Amino acid sequence: MLPVLLTLSIIYMTNSGTSASVNTITLPQLIKENETISSNNEAFKLGFFSPVNTTNRYVGIWYINQSNIIWIANREKPLQDSSGVITISHDYTNLVVLNGQKHVIWSSNVSSNLASSNSNVTAQLQNDGNLALLENTTGNIIWESGKHPSNAFIANMILSSNQKTGERVKATSWKTPSAPAIGKFSATIERFNAPEIFVWNQTKPYWRSGPWNGQDFLGLASNWLPTSANLKGFIIRREDNGSLVEITYTLPNSSFFATIVLSSEGKLVYTAWINMIQVRKRVVQQNDCDVYGICGPNGSCDLKNSPICTCLIGFKPRNVGEWNRENWTSGCVRRATLQCERGKYNGSALDGEEDGFLKLETTKPPDFVEQSYPSLDACRIECLNNCSCVAYAYDNGIRCLTWSDKLIDIVRFTGGGIDLYIRQAYSEITKHTDTDGIHTHGIHGKRNITSIIIAIVIVGVIIVATLKIQSLLVLNAGQTHQENQSASPIGDVKQVKIEDLPLFEFKIISSATNNFGSTNKIGQGGFGSVYKGELPDGLEVAVKRLSKASAQGLEEFMNEVIVISKLQHRNLVRLLGCCIEGDEKMLVYEYMPNNSLDFYLFDPVKKKVLDWKKRLTIIEGISRGLLYLHRDSRLRIIHRDLKPSNILLDGELNPKISDFGMARIFGGSENEGNTRRIVGTYGYMSPEYAMEGLFSEKSDVFSFGVLLLEIISGRKNTSFYNHEQALNLLGYAWKLWNEEEIISLIDPEICKPDYVDQILRCIHIGLVCVQEIAKERPTMATFVSMLNSEIVKLPPPSQPAFIQSKIEHREDLAQQNYDSKNSVTVTSLQGR
Ligand SMILES: *[C@@H]1O[C@H](CO)[C@@H](O)[C@H](O)[C@H]1NC(C)=O
Ligand SMILES: *[C@@H]1O[C@H](CO)[C@@H](O)[C@H](O)[C@H]1NC(C)=O
Ligand SMILES: *[C@@H]1O[C@H](CO)[C@@H](O)[C@H](O)[C@H]1NC(C)=O
Ligand SMILES: *[C@@H]1O[C@H](CO)[C@@H](O)[C@H](O)[C@H]1NC(C)=O
Ligand SMILES: *[C@@H]1O[C@H](CO)[C@@H](O)[C@H](O)[C@H]1NC(C)=O
Ligand SMILES: *[C@@H]1O[C@H](CO)[C@@H](O)[C@H](O)[C@H]1NC(C)=O
Ligand SMILES: *[C@@H]1O[C@H](CO)[C@@H](O)[C@H](O)[C@H]1NC(C)=O
Ligand SMILES: *[C@@H]1O[C@H](CO)[C@@H](O)[C@H](O)[C@H]1NC(C)=O
Ligand SMILES: *[C@@H]1O[C@H](CO)[C@@H](O)[C@H](O)[C@H]1NC(C)=O
Ligand SMILES: *[C@@H]1O[C@H](CO)[C@@H](O)[C@H](O)[C@H]1NC(C)=O
Ligand SMILES: *[C@@H]1O[C@H](CO)[C@@H](O)[C@H](O)[C@H]1NC(C)=O
Ligand SMILES: *[C@@H]1O[C@H](CO)[C@@H](O)[C@H](O)[C@H]1NC(C)=O
Repeated sequence: MLPVLLTLSIIYMTNSGTSASVNTITLPQLIKENETISSNNEAFKLGFFSPVNTTNRYVGIWYINQSNIIWIANREKPLQDSSGVITISHDYTNLVVLNGQKHVIWSSNVSSNLASSNSNVTAQLQNDGNLALLENTTGNIIWESGKHPSNAFIANMILSSNQKTGERVKATSWKTPSAPAIGKFSATIERFNAPEIFVWNQTKPYWRSGPWNGQDFLGLASNWLPTSANLKGFIIRREDNGSLVEITYTLPNSSFFATIVLSSEGKLVYTAWINMIQVRKRVVQQNDCDVYGICGPNGSCDLKNSPICTCLIGFKPRNVGEWNRENWTSGCVRRATLQCERGKYNGSALDGEEDGFLKLETTKPPDFVEQSYPSLDACRIECLNNCSCVAYAYDNGIRCLTWSDKLIDIVRFTGGGIDLYIRQAYSEITKHTDTDGIHTHGIHGKRNITSIIIAIVIVGVIIVATLKIQSLLVLNAGQTHQENQSASPIGDVKQVKIEDLPLFEFKIISSATNNFGSTNKIGQGGFGSVYKGELPDGLEVAVKRLSKASAQGLEEFMNEVIVISKLQHRNLVRLLGCCIEGDEKMLVYEYMPNNSLDFYLFDPVKKKVLDWKKRLTIIEGISRGLLYLHRDSRLRIIHRDLKPSNILLDGELNPKISDFGMARIFGGSENEGNTRRIVGTYGYMSPEYAMEGLFSEKSDVFSFGVLLLEIISGRKNTSFYNHEQALNLLGYAWKLWNEEEIISLIDPEICKPDYVDQILRCIHIGLVCVQEIAKERPTMATFVSMLNSEIVKLPPPSQPAFIQSKIEHREDLAQQNYDSKNSVTVTSLQGR
């Protein structure tokens, strides 16, 4: 019994009740049943509550209401009645919870080491939900709830692990939804080399996030923690030479709040609110592949397979009997001995059959990664030269990742993850290799051959039925120009390996898009509609659904499948798969939250978001994407319809080129094609293409030049009016250039003295790209060198083509533009 406290509380109790607007507890103040203190922003409250289905009372902090408990004091020792109080201890050093008998049932347990003996502590509920114990003379925080998490991980809370002492600050689940006592699941930060979040089932790992690369957790199928869009991102600190790691996260603004709660079933649940209205709630671990190491060492989990586990390529079950009974715990072992191991064991000389790597795309990186900083090539070589290195991966954020020994917790995703390169013996590589040495495996092991063959047949039939002879050239992807058109179309389709493209079931796409509901619709065009959807693994996608009536659309659909399924570049929109069932034909893309470039560029308000740095990033991104199309991919591809509505923007406004419905593939030595059917968009077509149907890399460069000038001026080429001379943007730019007034072309939004030189250089490059004569325009490789000033002196531009504004201006209707058909400026004319 504490006489002082008792006296004070008696005095206190004679006063009126605690006002809800108070955010502190100072002696002699007490918080009783039915009373709370609130943070100044009124978002958080500290008080007594009971979970569902129990009358036990707990002291906790909640956000908005008691459905969202973010912290609990006495989780192990509930109060049985309503006689408890929250107060400061009699020695002024701790926050305590007392029961009806005035016994301390919970204490913040700070040892009495206050700076001054005259100091008292005050408990304060802060605007971020943190409960802090402040030393009142210095204002120092001597204890805070944020460093003692319960089951919720909120912004500014810190989880940490200390390698030297083994200490972990972790979030721990409740036993049951009615019992907040510490349950068997916990969440921690682990792996000092490349830290990531782990969920444990007691001492066994239950789930892991994969390493954080500065933007994303690499082991997540999808953006379930929408870091770029919602949270401002996680911050991982490594101190003491990496032996102490801490993780926290911050919020983008004060109207936003999020919690990541570890449920009593061991699932992380992410919930977000904007202006106190719940906007999102999702469970992270949703399926069997999320269970740590479910397929055993050297196994790989893919929900699209049945059964879900397969051995990695080049591996076989350690115990076939167990494996066939779907007991995968023993995992898989190599089929063929690695050359580096043979060398080691029998001392024999190298036999020329060197080990190599096979690629596994969109994969959750396995556990026990080693991280270092060499380049991509050095990473590969480092791994190749070290016999104990069994796999590597390269991520631009955290660079080189390598693994030794077993590979555990590999999951195949539809999108996201990394490309994992797995060391293989020469014999395995020759068995599985494609022409360029690194093979991509969509599905390995019990690959569902039936469905692939069906797909090939379906696709083949469609092509036979609809594509014209000239289009078959396109199908002959990556091969030399085909003179002889008698080759079987199905053979051609096989060449583009349609089986690498995942097939989605109609019912999955249908439920992902709320049965193609109107609220999910994000675009509409001649081909059909585009819908936003969410796949069962949480990945957000855009689904282009071909309208059954559109024959033209079908041709472009097939063209797009064939062209884009072979391409992978961060500045090209990613095709995740397709769905062909009955009359239904759909393409499934990664979802781009920020719409297309025209949406920002030509809007007086939205364009403000695009400062010069952002616009330069966009220009650079498009140029890298185009360079890849023209030169760096295994195929050579002319896009033929570059324009702002075909540049989609991701969460960080990075550009991705979309719409390959009109793209053309060139074989080996071919440089130029021509077509009778001229498709494209006025204002962006080069003269030789618009007039003669000739297209080449240089016609894309022309379109990009127009696009570049639009990005800098913030104005549309086709909608440009110059009152006196009826010039379009190109004509106007040329006029200003000759009058040495070109600076006035620059969008006032970006025209800052620091940037002017760089912007003028870009205009110059743009003018060089739109020159009348194709061969005077730079290639994309030259363009990139000009842009990054490897080429210092730029050639003087000659007069651009099409400087008169003859073409009637129409509004672009482009929305989520995965297809040019939703832009009415698209036209089709007969050339020659
Ligand atoms: C708390 O409020 C409830 C409902 O208003 C009331 O029934 C109960 O008696 C109050 N408890 C105390 C301890 O004041
Ligand atoms: C609470 O109890 C009811 C009745 O027993 C039960 O149906 C319900 O599922 C319980 N709720 C929780 C969250 O345990
Ligand atoms: C909390 O607020 C939400 C949203 O208004 C409501 O659905 C829920 O029932 C409330 N919970 C409690 C315990 O009041
Ligand atoms: C505080 O210390 C006491 C005695 O060492 C211990 O029983 C109690 O669990 C501690 N409370 C907290 C919240 O750590
Ligand atoms: C703390 O505050 C109380 C009440 O105002 C006062 O009596 C006491 O001396 C203070 N304690 C210290 C250590 O300053
Ligand atoms: C510190 O606490 C004492 C006692 O509660 C109070 O009188 C004094 O005003 C406080 N000082 C500050 C700076 O809050
Ligand atoms: C957690 O581990 C226990 C004991 O190993 C096991 O029985 C239980 O099924 C596991 N829980 C989950 C959700 O995997
Ligand atoms: C706060 O951030 C969220 C998430 O990024 C965003 O949706 C919201 O519009 C922002 N609110 C304000 C007022 O900036
Ligand atoms: C970190 O490691 C370096 C080199 O091993 C050593 O010189 C340094 O003292 C270490 N620092 C700490 C804080 O342990
Ligand atoms: C699976 O195989 C492991 C290893 O052989 C064995 O210990 C375990 O009992 C098996 N589990 C089942 C459910 O058969
Ligand atoms: C997995 O593969 C590695 C080599 O890549 C091998 O050392 C290990 O024995 C394999 N199997 C298991 C069960 O660890
Ligand atoms: C393969 O796919 C086809 C068509 O989707 C299906 O009928 C068949 O059951 C699948 N076979 C296996 C082994 O999954």
